[in-house]
Amino acid sequence: MSSKEEQNRVLEALGAVNEPDVGRGVAELEMVRNIQVEGGGVTLELALVNPATPHREKLERDCIEALKSAGGFSAAKVTIVNPEPDTEARTRETLRNVKNTIAVASGKGGVGKSTTAVNIAMALSFTGARVGILDADIYGPSIPTMLYTDQTPEAPEQGVILPGVAMGIKVISIAYFMRRGQAAIMRGPMVTGATMQFLQQVDWGVLDYLVIDYPPGTGDIQLTLSQNAPLTGAVVVTTPQDIALTDVERAVDMFEKTGVPVLGVCETMSSFICDGCGKEHFIFRSGGGQRIANSIGVPFLGGVPIDPKVADSGDKGFPIVHSHPDSEPAKAYKQIAESVAAQLAIYSAESGHYLKSFQLDWQAM
Ligand SMILES: Nc1ncnc2c1ncn2[C@@H]1O[C@H](COP(=O)(O)OP(=O)(O)O)[C@@H](O)[C@H]1O
Ligand SMILES: [Mg+2]
Repeated sequence: MSSKEEQNRVLEALGAVNEPDVGRGVAELEMVRNIQVEGGGVTLELALVNPATPHREKLERDCIEALKSAGGFSAAKVTIVNPEPDTEARTRETLRNVKNTIAVASGKGGVGKSTTAVNIAMALSFTGARVGILDADIYGPSIPTMLYTDQTPEAPEQGVILPGVAMGIKVISIAYFMRRGQAAIMRGPMVTGATMQFLQQVDWGVLDYLVIDYPPGTGDIQLTLSQNAPLTGAVVVTTPQDIALTDVERAVDMFEKTGVPVLGVCETMSSFICDGCGKEHFIFRSGGGQRIANSIGVPFLGGVPIDPKVADSGDKGFPIVHSHPDSEPAKAYKQIAESVAAQLAIYSAESGHYLKSFQLDWQAM
């Protein structure tokens, strides 16, 4: 460990380097860890505020440049690391090692909610973040179909559930247990019980993001989840022809009443891009999601075009961001995931969780 003086010199040199998603300084956001000064060189770790940031390389470059020019160091090495779950998460029981918990919800079924959940999860995972997905649609679980699963979940003993692994994403769904005829998990006050078991008994390890695929609407499971899961934010999915604004409003209202920030509304099956002429056709009404978002006063996260490849990829277990990463729907999902991650980083910076976790690490050193 280096002297206080040396550390200050490093932090001062980094003074002008901004975290692009939050728009504040890396030093101010307490992202800098493990500073080691030796001779004219310096090494340090930069703990991401946004674990899914698309700006990893830029951050590394900017820091190195600042350390050399402003700090006068002859050599600089910056290692980007994913953050530890914050202190608030560590002290609570439910999902204690999960940094961000994202609910994906919709006013009604069949709008492409599960497809959105798996594609967001996979897009986040591609950035290097540690990701899990919880299929909370107990009556209509579809995640195991949509995600080719390398390793299925297990319940080795009473009260312990180990998630499965699907292409690097940790995954849990009631469907895995039903398929294998393991009815034990469904005993008890069935559905709410199963939801609570998933919240409390799954050993996720450390996750940057847990995506929760909600059942459609605003029933019992949704309330159980919103009251018991420490949700960091919610994404509400709609389609352009979903003129039932009240359904979406009710979903947004449910989160707001339970104190969960609504990160925004996204629209699926927005338009059809003709594979013959390449022209974008708005088969339903255009701009429905945007209008709904405006009228409720939440951000619009983006629209995903209709594409048979989205449905095919889902049916085969390889989400479109994985099977056709350069297609328009994949780009749209990736952009939505990027906005979600950026918004979560802003919330976490605003709530000061970073400062708390940093102080804890600092004292431990
Ligand atoms: N952008 C899209 N283009 C084409 N088909 C889609 C798109 N999004 C979803 N689908 C299909 O619509 C159906 C319903 O989607 P799903 O994600 O299961 O909805 P929900 O979870 O809201 O019930 C699925 O067959 C899915 O493959
Ligand atoms: Mg679904």
